[in-house]
Amino acid sequence: MKKIAVFASGSGSNFQAIIDVVKSGELEADIAILVCDKPDAYAVRRANSARIPTFAFSPKEYSSKEAYESAILEKLASYGVEFIVLAGYMRLIGPTLLGEYAGRIVNIHPSLLPDFPGKDAIGQALAAKAEWSGVTIHYVDEGMDTGPIIVQERVRLSEKETRESLQKKIQNIEHKLYPSILQMLLTRGEVQHDEKARTY
Ligand code: GRF
Repeated sequence: MKKIAVFASGSGSNFQAIIDVVKSGELEADIAILVCDKPDAYAVRRANSARIPTFAFSPKEYSSKEAYESAILEKLASYGVEFIVLAGYMRLIGPTLLGEYAGRIVNIHPSLLPDFPGKDAIGQALAAKAEWSGVTIHYVDEGMDTGPIIVQERVRLSEKETRESLQKKIQNIEHKLYPSILQMLLTRGEVQHDEKARTY
């Protein structure tokens, strides 16, 4: 089974969805470690409850991004991590991590990229009065949500859409889509074509 690291910064509901499918056997992977840049984040509690080791660090305690990414790399190496899953990790991945894991880092983003990259994609979609938004899973490169797209799933915004209702719709998709795509990527190295065209 492939050893993965999950990176999160916040509540970690996607991390929890991944923990649950690993437990049930639907995702054949070993979550070796949670990496978290906010030691107080709820994601850390989820890791503790699931007895998953954590590397929780404060970037400001390091002299540079290179310094904390080197510390992360060391941890990943010590756990034999082969693949990185970003799940609400609010930092750009720098050259130190990319140098070692290029092509083996994926991210999930709550919009149909390239629309609404960066922070608060849900708020951006509402402010733009978009008819459609959705979820994108993509490989990570040095840009902000710019790497090659693996899969997208659409969601239609209703006229009465609120932040809460859109967030709920998007999370429901994320918590199913990420585990199923990870299973394909980790066991077959690719995603079946018909998965790419699913819409809501
Ligand atoms: C998700 O919407 C994900 O798409 C984005 O950050 C959010 C993380 O939520 N990258 P959670 O911490 O998994 O609940």
